[in-house]
Amino acid sequence: MPRVFIKTYGCQMNERDSEAVAAQLVARGYTLAPSEETADVILLNTCSVRDLAEQKALNKMKSMNGVANKNTTGRTPVFGFMGCMAQSRGQKLIDELPDVDLVLGTQKFHRAAEYLDEILNGGREKIVDIAEEKDSEATIREHLLNGAGGAKKSVSAFVSIMQGCNQYCTFCIVPYTRGEERSRAIADIVAECRELVSRGVKEITLLGQIVTSYGKRNIPARDGVSAFVQLLEAVHEIDGLERVRFTSPHPKGYGDDLIDAYARLPKLCESAHIPVQSGSDRILKLMHRGYTREKFLGIIKKLRAARPEIGISTDIIVGFPGETEEDFEQTMSLAREVEFDQAYIFKYSPRRDTPAADMPDQIPQRAREERNHVLLQTINEIAARKYDNFVGRQTEILVEGPSKKNPARMTGRTRCNKIVVFDGSERHRGQVMDVRITRAGSFTLYGDPAILE
Ligand code: SAH
Ligand code: F3S
Repeated sequence: MPRVFIKTYGCQMNERDSEAVAAQLVARGYTLAPSEETADVILLNTCSVRDLAEQKALNKMKSMNGVANKNTTGRTPVFGFMGCMAQSRGQKLIDELPDVDLVLGTQKFHRAAEYLDEILNGGREKIVDIAEEKDSEATIREHLLNGAGGAKKSVSAFVSIMQGCNQYCTFCIVPYTRGEERSRAIADIVAECRELVSRGVKEITLLGQIVTSYGKRNIPARDGVSAFVQLLEAVHEIDGLERVRFTSPHPKGYGDDLIDAYARLPKLCESAHIPVQSGSDRILKLMHRGYTREKFLGIIKKLRAARPEIGISTDIIVGFPGETEEDFEQTMSLAREVEFDQAYIFKYSPRRDTPAADMPDQIPQRAREERNHVLLQTINEIAARKYDNFVGRQTEILVEGPSKKNPARMTGRTRCNKIVVFDGSERHRGQVMDVRITRAGSFTLYGDPAILE
């Protein structure tokens, strides 16, 4: 039984793809190796969104030359790249790193088992497959749950609803690495969710690069209700499911039907990760984002009117080409105005073949770093205040499992997506329970299981 080790870089979509590949391999008789040293197959699932992510995966592959000596199997492992960087670099990866045996594109994850079988059985030496494949969006389905491959019973699961993105933001490589938007059928997604719930899952996060564009081209709106909201309604109906989330939406997808869904669907958690990228209309236009600052602020207002407790997080890019001090100040003021619960700040990283990489007035690295630092400080101060506000309050959490930092304690999540650590045990796993917040740390709350009078 070949042992496989998969290392994942990048986003939740990549985590999900890796999980599906692992589950598919387990179904084909592979086992999951706990470390690369004990693996017969080492796969790196890569990310291309920023240069740093690409360099990390490349360096990892280079550093594994010679891992064969350490490998307890005594054989040279099979090395593979999959995902976004595999898609965009293809054969070049093997030309530059001759130890690589397999390059698997973003529409080919489900072929991993068949190709590895061919390589391991000596039939084929090297395989590069980065072609498009019709219906590949429907192949990310399998999960590692309830002990499969060593996984603990999962309370929360991610379900991939679509692949690709047609927005073509000028800084972003994703439309090139992930391809055109392709959506799965509602019935297919609901069947997967039902199966997960029957295996003990309590919370489902619907996943895609631009989930609010789900089904745009093949599922007609019904009485003004978009395909995405129809999907939310269908998943919401599943008995035994406690919570529904989704990531990532696009601001242009927040029509009244989606706002209304927050008011109508109680399982839809009051939390939203809405990437804003910039607070300057001029930069938003150069980015091809398709909304204005005012439109974004309007969405936040409506969401807070529908669910006052809603937790809001975002992505922001600093140092986009042409970003002046004034543009940056607009982003700072937007951050102060919205008061995000959390924000991921990225220094602009030029990506090959994207329009922004060739725009004039590229911002020097130092200025990008400086702006990153200044914005981060403001974001963190605001977030710390918001977390502090929870102290003394009682709140509902869904218990996910032991805390990673301290396995003697348990963690759960509030509906507004804040992590809560508390003294508990395995018997709490999967429970929806109330805790009283006693202390706030950095992006973590600490709680006591509440004693209800
Ligand atoms: N809609 C997708 C976006 C994927 S990229 C999703 O959220 O899943 C994730 C984030 O990376 C983007 O929101 C953006 O803030 C950042 N990003 C994308 N391309 C970038 C680049 N070239 N430089 C810096 N940050 C980038
Ligand atoms: Fe990228 Fe913009 Fe799509 S950030 S994933 S092109 S919405």
